[in-house]
Amino acid sequence: MTNSAHTLSTRRTQGLRGTITIPGDKSISHRVAILGGLAAGRMTVKNYLCSQDCLNTLRAMQQIGAKITPLRETPGYGVTDFILEGCCMQPQAPAQDIDCGNSGTGMRLLAGILAALPFTSKLYGDASLCSRPMQRIIQPLSLMGADITALGEKPGCAPLLIRGTRLQPIHYNLPMASAQVKSAVLLAGIFAEGTTSVTQPAVTRDHTERLYAHFGIPYTVNGLIISTTGPADIRAKDITVPGDISSAAFWLVAATICPNSDITLLNVGLNETRTAVIDVLRRMGADIRITLRSAEHEGEPYGDISVRTPARLVATDILPEEIPNLIDEIPILAVAAAFAEGTTGIRNAKELRVKESDRIATTAGNLRRMGANVEEYEDGITVTGGAPLHGCALPGYGDHRIAMSFLIAGLNAEGTTTLDTADAIDTSYPGFASHLAKLSR
Ligand code: S3P
Repeated sequence: MTNSAHTLSTRRTQGLRGTITIPGDKSISHRVAILGGLAAGRMTVKNYLCSQDCLNTLRAMQQIGAKITPLRETPGYGVTDFILEGCCMQPQAPAQDIDCGNSGTGMRLLAGILAALPFTSKLYGDASLCSRPMQRIIQPLSLMGADITALGEKPGCAPLLIRGTRLQPIHYNLPMASAQVKSAVLLAGIFAEGTTSVTQPAVTRDHTERLYAHFGIPYTVNGLIISTTGPADIRAKDITVPGDISSAAFWLVAATICPNSDITLLNVGLNETRTAVIDVLRRMGADIRITLRSAEHEGEPYGDISVRTPARLVATDILPEEIPNLIDEIPILAVAAAFAEGTTGIRNAKELRVKESDRIATTAGNLRRMGANVEEYEDGITVTGGAPLHGCALPGYGDHRIAMSFLIAGLNAEGTTTLDTADAIDTSYPGFASHLAKLSR
């Protein structure tokens, strides 16, 4: 692997070997910062994801009164362990506008709480974030009485001007299977007097609910309906964030598509609303073994995952109900599909069009540039595996998961694969390049 300012390159490897510890889960880290930042008391947070996205959310909480005391810094990576002292539900108005960087999760979840707090705030982000739909949270929060104005050039887009006010509880039917929208409403529900509930069209990641249990916030789950009753107190409680399965996914695929690989990934979150990537890869023939370390550590299961190159990889169809539970893994699963015999179908996934990039177009485009056989549809792609991939210079589109997916594809391609805008990787996986170097040594 080589790198220059904002590009990274890979070449065909002789096989990946070794053991790495996967950095903290991005979704959980955002939620720990928000809930811990509001809580009464001090808590120790360990293995926080110190990526740009999650650091922005932590900074936002500091801007409204949370305090951080660093405990442990990993050189070249950042502060992962710290004491978080919450503002005890007595936040202060931020002195400056709040920068959410590249993070849809950060912006949408923060909007859920800021809508209910007694001051005006403004959330902004980078060009990608300012082109992503925010109406999906403005709509339900407005039904609760929130006063949010989308100031972006594109209608319904950030920056968001939020004039905090008293919110009313609602019942909301989520129009799309989005954990971010569900969580924005449930977070606002902490402040509304009475029961706020959300019906989701399909199961989505349930980290918010698990953290409600951890922090003593009332909630119930009845099938696809999640409810919370406010106003609620939040009690600080120590937490260790498990490793991010969405980051582990790059190595699951890398060791699957690169002959002679045998790797172990330590400390990976195994929440069943996130593990569909493992089910799909196993269906394709991947040799993945899991050692469960805890079925429920501070609310979340985690364990170690070992992966060896399988004898053969075959195509599969990803089921509609699997899509929300592997939505972030689709670019890397599409790379795996390029190495599988037959045609893999990835449909019912139009949400991919509004991620950090239009991931249907960017995944299909980059696979084609490498020589793969891809059909693009409005709601997904099909990939017919078998054509050897060739390395080339590829756009990363400023999208961390596109950059990482195609650097992994380059590990079993002819020649050199170079991704531009590879600095975007830091938004979710600081340390990716050093893990790549360690495993391919
Ligand atoms: C996330 C939910 C998903 C996912 C994102 C993180 C979360 O987005 O793509 O990376 O932490 O709730 P949607 O809820 O918009 O599908």
